[in-house]
Amino acid sequence: MKIKDLYIDFFLSKDHKKLNSAPIIPENDPTSLFNTAGMQPLVPYLMGQTHPLGKRLTNFQKCFRLTDLDVIGDKTHHTFFEMLGNWSLGDYFKKESITWSFEFLTSVLNIPIEKLAVTVFKGNDSVPRDEESAQIWKNLGIPEGRISYLGEEDNWWGPAGETGPCGPDTEIFYWRGSEPAPTYHNPDDERWVEIWNNVFMEYYKDKDGNFKPLSQKNVDTGMGLERITSVLEGVDDNYKTTIWKDIIAKIEEISGLSYNDENYARSMRIIADHIRAIVIISGDDAGIKPSNTDQGYILRRLIRRAIRYAKKLNIDINSDFESIIANMVIEKYKKYYPELERNKETILEILKVEKTKFSRTIEKGLREFEKIISSIDTNIIDKNTAFKLYDTYGFPIELTIELAKEKGIEVDEKGFKEKFIEHQEKSRAGSQDKFKGGLSSDDDVNIKYHTATHLLNAALKTVLGPNVHQKGSNITNERMRFDFSHPLKMTKEQIAQTEELVNEYIKMAIDVESQEMTKEEAIKMGAEAMFIEKYGDIVTVYSIGTISKELCGGPHVKNTSEIGKFKIIKEEASSAGVRRIKAIIE
Ligand code: SER
Repeated sequence: MKIKDLYIDFFLSKDHKKLNSAPIIPENDPTSLFNTAGMQPLVPYLMGQTHPLGKRLTNFQKCFRLTDLDVIGDKTHHTFFEMLGNWSLGDYFKKESITWSFEFLTSVLNIPIEKLAVTVFKGNDSVPRDEESAQIWKNLGIPEGRISYLGEEDNWWGPAGETGPCGPDTEIFYWRGSEPAPTYHNPDDERWVEIWNNVFMEYYKDKDGNFKPLSQKNVDTGMGLERITSVLEGVDDNYKTTIWKDIIAKIEEISGLSYNDENYARSMRIIADHIRAIVIISGDDAGIKPSNTDQGYILRRLIRRAIRYAKKLNIDINSDFESIIANMVIEKYKKYYPELERNKETILEILKVEKTKFSRTIEKGLREFEKIISSIDTNIIDKNTAFKLYDTYGFPIELTIELAKEKGIEVDEKGFKEKFIEHQEKSRAGSQDKFKGGLSSDDDVNIKYHTATHLLNAALKTVLGPNVHQKGSNITNERMRFDFSHPLKMTKEQIAQTEELVNEYIKMAIDVESQEMTKEEAIKMGAEAMFIEKYGDIVTVYSIGTISKELCGGPHVKNTSEIGKFKIIKEEASSAGVRRIKAIIE
């Protein structure tokens, strides 16, 4: 049985409910580009909102961390990875959490206790030393010498962003050395690898840096699937585990080279890691496409970097090597993430189109790069050259920096960024001119959809009742998706009524107005406020006559009449207690 399944089954047996993995692109969270931890989609519930599935949750979560692409290529880091997690939302605390982690490791995964060590928080000025956790570990049989007390850099987790839930944690380590584990845990000995992190989230860090107690004591645990798999399979290279083995073997077959040759291993790992991440990002229902901003830019960088490393291995980049590997990833993960199967054609198309675009210029760009290197007598690539590599040859600045670093030289990154912004401003001015004639730009379409979500929210409240609240939304230039709390499938009549009502609001040609105020004022005036804790003290409330009042960052159309005709395409379940509407405007 797979570790993922064992994990979920174990926590189901401890009365947890299984939560689906949230999308890799956070819904309704403009503050982060990707989901970086299992707790991230749970922030409102860690803060006290009632979760429809209850107080004990478990899942495996798709996570993406773009810490430093440079480290990807070693044996243990990944951009995309899966995190096993369990949560108590104001229910159980340290005792149960630690005891169940111990039970899962020693009784389900059969890890001998002799191979375990733990760390706990040593305390600071505001939070005491975590004697309680240490005592629980001792009671379970972990000897004193295998318990280390460490400070904030090791045993404090979060918040995920600047503000949010956080707290002291206890981390569990596994002895990977070939000889028996030493009696005393030495945190600096790298043969002790961290496998699980149990965070006791009882604080909220506000924007002034103060830690305030949360209204409830939570548990948030996270265990990296790739790491625990390598431990259980007894290898110190994640790419030698069953998660990656066949993909690496395929890259060996395509390139005709061996992974055991140190000259090629790094390139193979980068190709494997990046193509898996590319599949997950472009397979997300958010509809991310390669672009020059936000998630689209990361996607572009991943694809272009994978291609550059494929070239390094002399793989014919005009072959369909990327599709072969992407297909393997889809096959491997579709059981757990069904959207990959649904969006398979899109994934393969995105990869192919972006590859084709880059393959036209990469060869010439690399030659140009070599020419530059041999002709400059400084050890820095100037901003004009870096910009030329970007603009003419499609080299993301990070790629130029990486190539330069391999030659021991630097890039004027700051100068590049200035030039980039200058260029962007020029082309934006150009495109505004182009659209002056009455054509609407992509941005305009997006804005119309955005205002339509407010109207839909209001219409649903009228048709289904005041308990409807927005749970998420996602807008592309072709459609909108809107998730809301409602326990039942909507009837045909309710759908028709909702659609009609939105169209009526549009016809009423109401002005959309915005007003800045304090959070308290916004709540007092009854504004709809999702994730209010994510906003600063002063918020903007958008009002559409008396129909809708919502806390929102905008932008919106000036008048509802600009929206066009609103049409509901589909109504379906999103998750327990949450329905989803897909709609278009024509
Ligand atoms: N949030 C913690 C982590 O990311 C535990 O899940 O490690």
